[in-house]
Amino acid sequence: MATRRIGIIVNGATGRMGYRQHLVRSLLAIQEQGGVTLSDGDRLLPDLLLVGRNQEKLATVAERHGLTNWTTDIDAALADPEYEVYFDALVTNLRVENLKKAIAAGKAIYTEKPTAETFEDALELARLAKEHGTVGGVVHDKLYLPGLLKLRRLIDADFFGRILSVRGEFGYWVYEGDWQSAQRPSWNYRAEDGGGIVADMFPHWNYVIEELFGRIEDVYAQTATHIGERWDETGEKFTATADDAAYGVFRLEGGAVVQMNSSWDVRVHRDELVEFQVDGTNGSAVVGLHSAHIQPREATPKPVWNPDVKDGHDYRADWIEVPDNAGPDGFDNGFKVQWEGFLRHVAEEPKDSAYPYDFLSGARGVRLAEAGLASSAEGRRIDLDPLTEV
Ligand SMILES: NC(=O)c1ccc[n+]([C@@H]2O[C@H](COP(=O)([O-])OP(=O)(O)OC[C@H]3O[C@@H](n4cnc5c(N)ncnc54)[C@H](O)[C@@H]3O)[C@@H](O)[C@H]2O)c1
Repeated sequence: MATRRIGIIVNGATGRMGYRQHLVRSLLAIQEQGGVTLSDGDRLLPDLLLVGRNQEKLATVAERHGLTNWTTDIDAALADPEYEVYFDALVTNLRVENLKKAIAAGKAIYTEKPTAETFEDALELARLAKEHGTVGGVVHDKLYLPGLLKLRRLIDADFFGRILSVRGEFGYWVYEGDWQSAQRPSWNYRAEDGGGIVADMFPHWNYVIEELFGRIEDVYAQTATHIGERWDETGEKFTATADDAAYGVFRLEGGAVVQMNSSWDVRVHRDELVEFQVDGTNGSAVVGLHSAHIQPREATPKPVWNPDVKDGHDYRADWIEVPDNAGPDGFDNGFKVQWEGFLRHVAEEPKDSAYPYDFLSGARGVRLAEAGLASSAEGRRIDLDPLTEV
């Protein structure tokens, strides 16, 4: 068994996602476990080159983790043939120009979502990637949440029968930033900086819905900027120009309806920050980030509407918890599992074989966001064609 090195440029390593989920929880964790095991038993060991704009921040991060390779010069990093993978966790509005450079430099690319701010740009990236034979992968972390892995199992076991509808609640209260600091970056609330909950979350909902429930045929959405003024990282007041809540209805091929609320202006009265209720002819499930509960048809109560009498029935007690069944260490970090899959793909698959969550999948996510915003602005439902080729 040999160890093979794979060079990875990590752009945006000091950002919230770039640092915590990708660098620390994924790439460094993969290094610590001795790499990714390939099908021939060899180990693939990431060798990282951190890139960022702030020398001081980069040096601090590098030093904290005993890393010595870092630079503020992205062009020099891309020109280095020792690094065959480019990863991008920059703010969204810088993504396209950087991904284009990485495609031109012949790198394999793994990127945070959304791949672009507009569908046109996202499609152009998919086109360029195809032209250059680029292996492209887009983050699809939500599918690896333990709750959604349990949902996947239920679907594969045909627990639901015909799925009729899905109701999703995502969100929590994000502080405005005046008397308590905000727990999300301020650019999230400025449309001109690539912010907005639709641009942020609809790309996630797209791959979650496609993968678990089927293709989205049309979308209707109502967006809102409920909180008009927020305070940034320096304590400066600014006008929130981006949507901070979105109420979406997606109709799927086959007739199921997904209704998805996404909001940074709700106070949580649920078990988890995201929850989906799936109702099918044979059973229902409520899944969150971690937990999943089911109620089969045979154990479904028969409520009778009578507002005159207080209903003493404990409806929650009717549900059965789905166990983890995930081995002694539980479920691994989803970002890390994706990284392992992507690196294996780069190392083992033919260069022209498509990674399942590629730039085209990313483009469908951006298209859903764009269609959601257009639907809200124009007050109409928007049809979405299948988009399987560029
Ligand atoms: N997969 C997920 O669940 C998830 C969650 C949150 C965010 N994201 C995505 O990750 C990306 C980063 O989001 P974040 O929350 O980490 O943001 P962040 O603001 O914490 O980090 C952004 C990074 O971009 C860098 N950057 C900002 N302006 C720059 C400039 N002018 N030049 C060079 N670099 C610059 C910052 O230094 C930082 O490294 C976004 O595209 C966002 O949509 C994904």
